[in-house]
Amino acid sequence: MTQSLTIRRPDDWHLHLRDGDMLRAVLPHSASDFARAIIMPNLVPPVVTGAQAAAYRDRIMAALPEGADFTPLMTLYLTEDTDPNDVARAHAEGLIHAVKLYPAGATTNSASGVSNFDKVAPVLDRMAEIGLPLCTHGEVTDSEIDIFDREAVFIDRVLDPIRRAHPSLRVIMEHITTSDAADYVRSNDSGLAATITTHHLVINRNHILAGGIRPHYYCLPVAKRETHRLALRQAATSGDPRFFLGTDSAPHTDGAKLQPCGCAGCFTAPNTMSILAQVFEEDGALDKLEAFSSLNGPAFYGLPPNETRITLRREAPTHPASIDTPNGPVTVFDPGFDLNWTT
Ligand code: NCD
Ligand code: ZN
Repeated sequence: MTQSLTIRRPDDWHLHLRDGDMLRAVLPHSASDFARAIIMPNLVPPVVTGAQAAAYRDRIMAALPEGADFTPLMTLYLTEDTDPNDVARAHAEGLIHAVKLYPAGATTNSASGVSNFDKVAPVLDRMAEIGLPLCTHGEVTDSEIDIFDREAVFIDRVLDPIRRAHPSLRVIMEHITTSDAADYVRSNDSGLAATITTHHLVINRNHILAGGIRPHYYCLPVAKRETHRLALRQAATSGDPRFFLGTDSAPHTDGAKLQPCGCAGCFTAPNTMSILAQVFEEDGALDKLEAFSSLNGPAFYGLPPNETRITLRREAPTHPASIDTPNGPVTVFDPGFDLNWTT
């Protein structure tokens, strides 16, 4: 039985670090395992300009623990007023690595997102020209569409038309939750990839709703039925370069989650690598973990893989059940089984 596994240091291609006290509390948990992360721009107010992204990057660097080796890869939040020149400038400076599309109202702090997709066509044209990828929160927001169907409908109504209108635009479907999304990614040879979260490899919608409601498993896009979870496991563990890790670790205080209208998001930064090692081992695919967490992402983003390595050991980890922040505790995602790999 394999007792240890050494892989190139992983990166997280979709991460929420927040700001201020929360940033200081959660950042060490990502920086300990991950070398780089694509930083989500859905702050309040959102990170919409290059200047705001530079200032946010500086706040992240200032919050890093002494001696940490972590590089935040910044993104801009796409709005109907985004200036293509500002985007191109921030990209040319090496400051930003993607632009994030939130359909207005789709998720936490997405009110400034896009309602009329025609209005962002000039930005998307420029991004296609300069090779800057678009990260998508792939859910429609129409109230008549069932929440469990919103990802599949997004592909047909929004994503496919965008990709037809901008054929050379590179697109990352973020935190996919359905076999429809995995199939759509596979139906394309280049320019399209998807991130998969840790929690969507572990939970289906029963975990949220059967036998009592479990707010700590509620995130967006919401976990779907078991067949979809199995399709995601298959995609993640296949080694296919179009699928890679984006934890979508999204911390909210317990006070904000345990409410009549609680926030969406699972906090997986501390135990992601332990959970992934177990998932990949269960599926007989430990040899594919490095591709998923350390190789496929940089290849798609046109960056070199990390030169440093981490070693996972077969040993019960000691992750806390929750972390303290000045605003209250944040519960760490509980995979529902004992973990036996540690970093
Ligand atoms: C994210 C958050 O809290 O910012 N929540 C979530 O459920 N994933 C937003 C997002 O990525 O949708
Ligand atoms: Zn997210």
